[in-house]
Amino acid sequence: MRIALFDSGIGGLTVLSHARRVLPSEEFIFFADRDHVPYGTKSVPAVRGYVREAFRFLIEKQRADAVVVACNTATSVAVDEMRRLYEVPIIGMEPAVKMALEQDADRRVLVTATPITINGEKLRRLVSAHDAKNLVDLLALPRLVEFAERREFSSPRVEAYLWDALSPYDLRKYSAIVLGCTHFNYFKDTLRRLLPKTVGFVDGNEGTVEELARRTGLTTVVAGVQTAPCSFFESGRPIMGTESLARIESYLARAARMEEVV
Ligand code: DGL
Repeated sequence: MRIALFDSGIGGLTVLSHARRVLPSEEFIFFADRDHVPYGTKSVPAVRGYVREAFRFLIEKQRADAVVVACNTATSVAVDEMRRLYEVPIIGMEPAVKMALEQDADRRVLVTATPITINGEKLRRLVSAHDAKNLVDLLALPRLVEFAERREFSSPRVEAYLWDALSPYDLRKYSAIVLGCTHFNYFKDTLRRLLPKTVGFVDGNEGTVEELARRTGLTTVVAGVQTAPCSFFESGRPIMGTESLARIESYLARAARMEEVV
């Protein structure tokens, strides 16, 4: 099966890294919309336009059999329209609010994402459906997207930005931080240094790949050394140069390391 994973940028590689290892016999296409990243600080109509273009490429040109929108922001504003337009299975990503709340019935949950996701109707509905005790706080961290695109993961600038953003919260009262943007997974080691040990990470990566398998009738295997083949595209252009492919590999290597950070 030809499975496309789509993100505004390199965040979706954290989902791909997992998907290729648990579905090693499939064929993957990864699309990073490098011309338009970041999405999270742009207007909703602009993001909808970018997503339409990406889907046209992935489904009409690349003949993808299924598409994973490995981007919470694009899911928030464009997945419903894509599902109306195309018949292939489309798997979206939403901040894993329910999973985080289930871990502890009394302590708070900090949901982090891009401004579009944080202010979106979809997240409001998700929170009101599951947060009966008013335990959820929402925090937009748009600069993490820029830092990740620059491969700046643990500089003093990143730490200062996070310190400043997290300082209004009494983090001892929190059981979990939800990484509601795929770019944020690259910062798990840095966040681990800043957060109390009692705050756990919750992201939707594994759940999304399980949902992909369920919707396509595929069976996942225990992640091993074998990984599925993947072709990489940026905004519709194949990524081929040695330097560009090395950049992708360095993100994939970091994504695999971050999966181990708990
Ligand atoms: N990685 C994306 C997400 O999961 C969006 C990042 C951006 O382009 O702002 O929301």
